[in-house]
Amino acid sequence: MSPQSESKRPDGSAILVTHAMQLLTLRSASGGTGPRRGAQMRDLGIVADGAVLISDGKILAVGTTDEVAKHELLASKPAHVEEIDCSGKVVLPGFVDSHTHPVFTTPRLIDFEKRSSGASYEEIAEAGGGIRASLRGVRDARTEELVQHIVSGLDEMAAYGTTTVECKSGYGLNFAAEMKSLEAIREASHQWPGTVVPTLLAAHVVPPEHRENPDEYVRIICEDMIPTAAKLKLASFVDVFVERGAFTMEQSQRILRSAVDHNLGVRAHVCQLTPAQLSPLLEFHPASLDHMDFVSDEDVALLAKLDTVSTLLPAANYFLGLDKFPPARKLVDGGVAVALATDYNPGTSPTTSMPFVLSAACTHMKMSPAEAIVAATYNGACALRLQGRKGSIEPGKDADIAIFEAEDYRELAYWFGVNRCRQTLLNGTVYFQGGNSH
Ligand code: NIG
Ligand code: FE
Repeated sequence: MSPQSESKRPDGSAILVTHAMQLLTLRSASGGTGPRRGAQMRDLGIVADGAVLISDGKILAVGTTDEVAKHELLASKPAHVEEIDCSGKVVLPGFVDSHTHPVFTTPRLIDFEKRSSGASYEEIAEAGGGIRASLRGVRDARTEELVQHIVSGLDEMAAYGTTTVECKSGYGLNFAAEMKSLEAIREASHQWPGTVVPTLLAAHVVPPEHRENPDEYVRIICEDMIPTAAKLKLASFVDVFVERGAFTMEQSQRILRSAVDHNLGVRAHVCQLTPAQLSPLLEFHPASLDHMDFVSDEDVALLAKLDTVSTLLPAANYFLGLDKFPPARKLVDGGVAVALATDYNPGTSPTTSMPFVLSAACTHMKMSPAEAIVAATYNGACALRLQGRKGSIEPGKDADIAIFEAEDYRELAYWFGVNRCRQTLLNGTVYFQGGNSH
């Protein structure tokens, strides 16, 4: 796959997407700008025979093909209009994958094989596998090697319809390797036409050299890594893995307080393997809390009143072979804003496919296809606080669009293990996928 054209087009040129069988605009029926919850998560704002006019990487007009054809830009006969005929296709906002760990060098095949013979994720981590097993590769790698790994992951994501990706560090686990990871994310973001949001996840696990004194590692994160990442603008968010075997709630609070003091956004991995009370995290106004498999009923009621998004990661449950999946129904029906993401990483979720996540969400978490699509686009944008630019097809927004071989939006979550994404527009740059129509 390669970029078909650059987003910088000659003056007056435009892209015109026409005749979409279903154009899922995801425009807000109420005009609200917060994350969608409850019944709002079932409204896709569908336009039949839909069209989108794009110029200079931005969406200019949205409507039926007849309506958009009357736009003044087209009436003025611009020098070049590239038409993309989407007859028989579903067109939607590009997926926003708001939780990924792409800075690693090798797959963790030993962990994988051990798990297939019955060992659990935590048992493998205690025996020296897990997150720490990815550390050596990242510490030894040159920045350029990391950049290549990240860009190839991002290209795969674009092939599945993803246009915005949050990218975490978290396998370097010392000052130099975490900063190198963030620099690699920055360089990868320059090489990829989509949008990348960088997150410092130095608090993924305590590295072996600080095992006897984890608080010293927490101090280095708070006093060295966060201030440097903020000063060099290498991260937009700070994340922490709040879990037994990772960081305590008290350590996590110290880390998030430092993040807020340095004007960085915060998010956390929490309730993945064991329950935790969320109020100590909520005081930092996290953009999202992620995993949430063991969230309590009391915390569902608390979250329903907040704009903090609960990001569910069912591909991790699938890959770990778990019987239980995150409680999406309890959250959606309780009024919590829910997002979906891949959690792309070498230990629990080696997939770049948002359509697979939609499938898992509908099949194993009983989300409806419409809810899953809202969670994977607009609410994912909210989880990154980017909903002003991303997550819906509306005039003024970035031209991030996915085109699927499908006549009905429910097919996006129906087909699995195959890629029906045919074209992706990332900030107005067109990626073509291989493959013929079925
Ligand atoms: O989101 N839970 C923590 N982090 C990742 C797993 C990382 C790994 O095992 O490499 C997750 O599942
Ligand atoms: Fe994760």
